Amino acid sequence: MSILNIEKGAENKILRTRSEEVADIQSPEIQKFILNMKTTLKSTPNGVGLAAPQAGKNLRIFVASDDLGINQTVFINPEITKISENMILKGEGCLSLPEYYGKIRRADWVKAEACNENGRKFKIKATGLVAQLIQHEVDHLNGILFIDKAEKVESQKTDGK
Ligand code: NI
Repeated sequence: MSILNIEKGAENKILRTRSEEVADIQSPEIQKFILNMKTTLKSTPNGVGLAAPQAGKNLRIFVASDDLGINQTVFINPEITKISENMILKGEGCLSLPEYYGKIRRADWVKAEACNENGRKFKIKATGLVAQLIQHEVDHLNGILFIDKAEKVESQKTDGK
């Protein structure tokens, strides 16, 4: 398994392209890419989520980590099926924009569907940080970065999230 380079920058073409559905989840190439994404996320300090475009491929895949960085969930061809009416202003950063931090309005909870790396469909209702993460990562798959939506963006010199 290898650690992938993380695409960076607000003008980066891959980050700004709408990603395509994964047709064959079981293919060796896709399986290897998913493993590499998981390894990359695990080895990234403060990394809680990584979307395929950040790892150089315009595919509809993202990996989410739990708070402790132990368990990871792979979302393939994800769809947000329902969001709360209630929006909450949250602090947010991105591994692809390490110099920025912003305040962004996100739905308080979301319902989503996706396939896991075995091709099995699952549904999730997420709140809090996980809900925020799903919205952030699905935006990545549509070529959207959090600075596009943030109400307030600040520069910072730390590594970001
Ligand atoms: Ni991001």
